[in-house]
Amino acid sequence: MENLTYRKLSLADKPKLLGLDEAVLKELKERERQEFIIKYFSQYSCEELKQLFNKKRYIMLGALNGNTLDGALRLTIDQDDLAQYHEILGTDTKKCLFGNLMVRPEHRRQKIMTALAGHAIGEADKQQCETAVALIHAKNGPGLGIFEKLRFEPAGKMIEVAQQPYIVVTKEL
Ligand SMILES: CC(C)(COP(=O)(O)OP(=O)(O)OC[C@H]1O[C@@H](n2cnc3c(N)ncnc32)[C@H](O)[C@@H]1OP(=O)(O)O)[C@@H](O)C(=O)NCCC(=O)NCCS
Repeated sequence: MENLTYRKLSLADKPKLLGLDEAVLKELKERERQEFIIKYFSQYSCEELKQLFNKKRYIMLGALNGNTLDGALRLTIDQDDLAQYHEILGTDTKKCLFGNLMVRPEHRRQKIMTALAGHAIGEADKQQCETAVALIHAKNGPGLGIFEKLRFEPAGKMIEVAQQPYIVVTKEL
């Protein structure tokens, strides 16, 4: 959407982020059975919330419509946090992880995430990351759809998170 501002989020934006998180989860709960939702999308944990604005670990990006956060994405950049992907993928390139992609339900399919992901790739470039990685629950259709559109490719690996199957996709930057 053209009237949106795309920028890094800071601690001051935390209430907006929680509001978006809530709206996304509410829609999922209404649309799907609770058990299924928990399998492929979960809200930020307390521990994650404490760390989200730790600049060494994450770059939080948002799409803002005035004062309202319509979309967000978390880019993990700490190479220690990403060590497991070096092993999983068998490469030692500098990596970043795309995660917690969320767009307000009423604004979906308006290319907000496409634009936000473009900004994330720009930030990853600045960090000199060579490989972008993402994990998608095997049954998360929208998740699979967006990463396919962003030209991430299946790495041929599945991993289990909380006993759930996740597909690993990557994109060379
Ligand atoms: C996934 C999500 C972030 C996509 O955001 P979005 O702003 O609607 O995505 P975009 O408008 O940029 O979509 C770009 C392309 O991605 C694909 N895509 C997006 N949503 C899709 C869906 N529901 N089903 C299949 N493909 C989809 C399409 O190819 C789409 O292009 P098109 O609209 O021209 O067909 C959003 O649906 C969402 O917040 N879902 C709930 C949370 C979630 O599951 N996040 C993913 C975690 S990995």
